[in-house]
Amino acid sequence: MDTLRLILLLVHLLGFAALLGGLLTQVRLPEKVVNPMMRDGAGTAFLAGLALVGVLEAGDGEVNHAKVGVKLAVGLVILVLVMANTRKERIPQGLWAGLLLLTVANVAVALFWSPAHQ
Ligand code: HEM
Repeated sequence: MDTLRLILLLVHLLGFAALLGGLLTQVRLPEKVVNPMMRDGAGTAFLAGLALVGVLEAGDGEVNHAKVGVKLAVGLVILVLVMANTRKERIPQGLWAGLLLLTVANVAVALFWSPAHQ
């Protein structure tokens, strides 16, 4: 089960890296868009995150539901905003900055809040 958790965590981190990479490659561009890296990254991080929770729940450890709840809510907001704007020719700077902030916030929750499972 731990091997499955680690594989899912790898996929989860690759998803987050693609989302963050898709955002940061545009930092100097005057016009921002939702590019395929952001779309696929947000989707992958979200689905792998859900699967991770499933594996943790199936395990014998205590799952930190408050932490997972916050990550789920932030992840869902990111996913909805990204999917709702994939076909737009450009997105407002504020939306780009908001997506970047939410993504970094979810990393901070993952790292600084006590482990998701004990
Ligand atoms: C774009 C949004 C997300 C980002 C940037 C993100 C980022 C991260 C990072 C960096 C870690 C590794 C932390 C560590 O190993 O200490 C992590 C772990 C984790 N994430 Fe996410 N995450 C996101 C969305 C989600 C969602 C939606 C869920 C599920 C509801 C979720 C559930 C988890 C769980 C359960 C772990 C811990 C896995 C373990 O320790 O076994 N994440 N996340």
